[in-house]
Amino acid sequence: MRKKIVAGNWKMNASKAEAVAIIKNFTVLMKKMSHASPFSKVTIIIAPPFIHIDNVAQLVNRKRIKIAAQNCAVVENGAYTGEISASMLKSINTDYVILGHSERRTYFDETNRVLAKKLDIALMHGLIPIYCCGETLDERKAEKQKEIVQKQITEGLFHLSPKEFSKIVIAYEPVWAIGTGVTATSDQAQEMHAFIRSVITTKYGKAVSDSISILYGGSCNSKNAKELFACEDVDGGLVGGASLKADEFFEIIQSFEPSSLR
Ligand code: PGA
Repeated sequence: MRKKIVAGNWKMNASKAEAVAIIKNFTVLMKKMSHASPFSKVTIIIAPPFIHIDNVAQLVNRKRIKIAAQNCAVVENGAYTGEISASMLKSINTDYVILGHSERRTYFDETNRVLAKKLDIALMHGLIPIYCCGETLDERKAEKQKEIVQKQITEGLFHLSPKEFSKIVIAYEPVWAIGTGVTATSDQAQEMHAFIRSVITTKYGKAVSDSISILYGGSCNSKNAKELFACEDVDGGLVGGASLKADEFFEIIQSFEPSSLR
């Protein structure tokens, strides 16, 4: 059975005091969730800005909440002013790293080729990559969404061995749905997730593709999460804006069909 995951991507938000407040509020809510609750099986990931990672990691119950970075350097340590390396992230107990988010692709010119290298460095240092893919509005209007996503997956990931590939998480995030309040319909999400899984099956086989968690991202909130998470190939969400509100994030975690959690 695939891991069900809800990951909160804080992006470039929250002062130190705000970060602490979000975590404190979230911790209060999490304490209300008993071990017997089916939702205690959901893998919860929080991705604060780099500067808050260490603090957030110390404030949360690490058995229940995993920590992600939002990016890492494409190179190892050394003279790369302003960069943060995968090994540094590992040294402060980071578990995951989001790679290839559309904001990184668009504003920081990250290409599939660069991302493939980041994937390797992250895996080498024991970080689990959450690899993002997704088409823009123009690409969807031109009905190119499958072609674009296939290219992002093939060029960014398909150099990995089956063993390496089995470790990663994928997030399908249509760019037109990110931060816009427009969510993909459950049919659109299911169609793309099933397509991504079929692309993986062709390269790595069914056993591998069946084991990979594919998250949906793009204006996911407590109102639409239930319908999205009920889709056969949707294994959870990568949540931006709504993850900054502890109660909203907590509700999203409880949006899975309990029988899908074991
Ligand atoms: P959003 O962002 O939930 O604010 O749309 C999602 C993401 O970019 O990961």
